[in-house]
Amino acid sequence: MVNTHRKLILNIYCSAIILPQICTCSQFTSSSNDQYNENPGVFPVATNGEPFPWRELRLPTKVIPLHYDLFVHPNLTSLDFVASEKIEVLVRDTTQFIILHSHGLEIMNATLQSEEDLRYKKSGEKLTVLSYPAHQQIALLVPEKLMADLRYSVAIDFQAKLADGFEGFYKSTYRTLGGETRTIAVTDFEPTHARMAFPCFDEPLFKANFSIKIRRESRHIALSNMPKVKTIEREGGLLEDHFETTVKMSTYLVAYIVCDFASVSGTASSGVKVSIYASPDKWSQTHYALEASLKLLDFYENYFNIHYPLPKLDLVAIPDFESGAMENWGLVTYRETSLLFDPKTSSTSDKLWVTKVIAHELAHQWFGNLVTMEWWNDIWLNEGFATYMELISVNVTYPELQFDNIFLNNCFDVIKSDSLNSSRPVSKQAETPTQIQEMFDAISYKKGACLLNMLKDFLSEEKFKKGIIHYLKKFSYRNAKNDDLWSSLSNSCLESDFTSGGFCYSDSKTTSNTLTFLEENVEVKDIMTTWTRQKGIPLVVVEQEGRLLKLRQERFLNGVFRDDPEWGALQERYLWHIPVTYSTSSSNAIHRHLLTSKTDTLYLPEKTSWVKLNVDSNGYYIVHYEAHGWDQLIAVLNQNHTLLRPKDRIGLIHDAFQLVSIPTDVLKIVYSVGAQTTEGWNYLLEQYGLSLSGAEKNKILYALSTSKHQEKLIKLIDLGMEGKVIKTQDLASLLYAIARNPKGQQLAWNFVKENWTHLLERFELSSFPMRIIISGTTFHFSSKDELQEVKLFFESLQTQGSYLEVFQIVLETISKNIKWLEKNLPSLRNWLLISI
Ligand code: BES
Ligand code: ZN
Repeated sequence: MVNTHRKLILNIYCSAIILPQICTCSQFTSSSNDQYNENPGVFPVATNGEPFPWRELRLPTKVIPLHYDLFVHPNLTSLDFVASEKIEVLVRDTTQFIILHSHGLEIMNATLQSEEDLRYKKSGEKLTVLSYPAHQQIALLVPEKLMADLRYSVAIDFQAKLADGFEGFYKSTYRTLGGETRTIAVTDFEPTHARMAFPCFDEPLFKANFSIKIRRESRHIALSNMPKVKTIEREGGLLEDHFETTVKMSTYLVAYIVCDFASVSGTASSGVKVSIYASPDKWSQTHYALEASLKLLDFYENYFNIHYPLPKLDLVAIPDFESGAMENWGLVTYRETSLLFDPKTSSTSDKLWVTKVIAHELAHQWFGNLVTMEWWNDIWLNEGFATYMELISVNVTYPELQFDNIFLNNCFDVIKSDSLNSSRPVSKQAETPTQIQEMFDAISYKKGACLLNMLKDFLSEEKFKKGIIHYLKKFSYRNAKNDDLWSSLSNSCLESDFTSGGFCYSDSKTTSNTLTFLEENVEVKDIMTTWTRQKGIPLVVVEQEGRLLKLRQERFLNGVFRDDPEWGALQERYLWHIPVTYSTSSSNAIHRHLLTSKTDTLYLPEKTSWVKLNVDSNGYYIVHYEAHGWDQLIAVLNQNHTLLRPKDRIGLIHDAFQLVSIPTDVLKIVYSVGAQTTEGWNYLLEQYGLSLSGAEKNKILYALSTSKHQEKLIKLIDLGMEGKVIKTQDLASLLYAIARNPKGQQLAWNFVKENWTHLLERFELSSFPMRIIISGTTFHFSSKDELQEVKLFFESLQTQGSYLEVFQIVLETISKNIKWLEKNLPSLRNWLLISI
């Protein structure tokens, strides 16, 4: 007992106090075997024809990185970079090779020094480097075995072209007001692209410290995760910036930029220096972002009661950027429209978007950067939490934006895809880079956030907050998995609450609803695994019979009805633990019940005329009211709609129609009307080229895409492919918009089919834009012929080795559309009195 207690205290001490900076006690499980020595015959073949000593996609854990010294010199004229690194590694188990990730890098030289070599300044021993591009790995073969528990230093010289796309260390260009095209170099690594910029252990569990040096011309500046310590002059008038060493972090969060940007700065209450960077002509659009990021940083530091651990935080608007933003620790990068706000041309919804994106990326500085998921199968721990924290932080910092109503759109949005059979569980295996990239979808972001919001409502805000702070403190500078979160939420005592034996006495005195649940031995994990391991969303069917409230749960499937032959099979083995809430006509109180079986009956405390389930739409379930349930609610709404709270009314409309995601901006509509004449369209295109505001550009591009003239739509696509007037980064949203236009539907789809290889030259197959292009140009189809055509196309891609989950989603959506039409066409015909 005494021993256990000491161990517990030691654990807490090691994880919360010592480990963050210096403990090398690692989270790796048993180290893997040297497969090579056991059976060298069955190994993959390296590029030089020799056997490559490792066959797994995941790296071995015998050697782990502690510290990277990284030097990078990009040349923005020749568009390439030379670089070198020294990785200090710890050998956990004797081995004869080191496996690293490296993708598209030319390795010039690799050497190894032991601690002794370093002490006596003995030069490094040259290593044999093997490359296995299919796994984006290199193997460094050592002449003599590396010994367990010793540290070594691996030095590698390498070079590459600055990437053409939006990943790794890539080039981005922008035009100045004077018409000059300028180039900058920028990184974007998540999830698996750090390996394109430097050989590394490119998995989230391999956290290390990074000391970065960047050589540049004097007309440029260099930025990285940490503040600059000094600048050294080098030959040829070049300058070299040395940055402070980072905290322990994953490779996907490393970032550096060489550019000529201008900035505004301010200081947060805690003393952290916050700066917003943009290209010089757009400097005047940076001020709102500074105000918002200072407010939000203050909010998060207070809310989590954990300091943002770096001395500075830069937010940079990048002219070419694939996603909306990226949370690199201390150097957050944004698409221009996600950071810049021009009061003259940006609308309230643009401001909301900028605020939301900043809130999201700053939340990642804790959820994701400080505590990282062990592996990409749990990416929802990053993205779901960042999306959930948008709600918490924006509600407090910008209450006038009424973000809690907007948050509901996340849930309504994801319900559309989660109610298809092709959906997936929140936690799902992902091994290849393509599978990993595909995890960044609405299920991780939006379902993740909605589940957290449901759990907060179930546990109470106070208990939930305490639990997540416990989780953040316990796993700081480390990695966590789902179960770690659930146990932190079950036993959300802070270390200071511990008296003895690991029990939290302070809680047992309270008598909240939550504790009633907990006293009945309700485990957060038991509830939550029904939501994270099963795909889909439950439908709660409720029938009020006098004082009895009969509840039933089933799996909700859009377009599959009880009389469909497959209905039964699709329901099998699905069961959720649903935190049901309800209010009634006779009291304002929120009643709670945990529905853990298929059916249940509750007794209402009083006679009531109506019952409304899912109070404030906090639960992730759809409700159907049987018997007179709907009629009674409609009667209340007709009589006095304010008897139901706004979010309850929104939820009722959603549940009744199962659709809502938004009225278009007035300005967008005005532009779209203008775009219907040739003069108007040409004028708008000209304005598009001239506009400095990304928000305005978005609206103009949308308007241009609504033209009824196909030759104009073709011109837009050509411009998007060319990438000068319309940037290639915007091609996906352009094709999406064109496919919404009845005159553009077929055109967009034909374009995708005919230009598939050209598209792949610009975007990776599994990238977000490519998935938008595929689904955006197909999922509105509703005939069997169209289904067949799309199917054949996907099959032809599959035979060439390209497969994406989105193919299945599209096919299922089209089938659903066909079914819906078959079912409803006769009544639609009747109703409209026209023949279609
Ligand atoms: N971590 C992501 C960026 C990302 C997206 C990396 C996809 C790898 C693949 C970032 O935090 C993010 O979520 N960005 C969002 C914007 C956000 C406000 C929802 C994006 O890029 O859409
Ligand atoms: Zn995110």
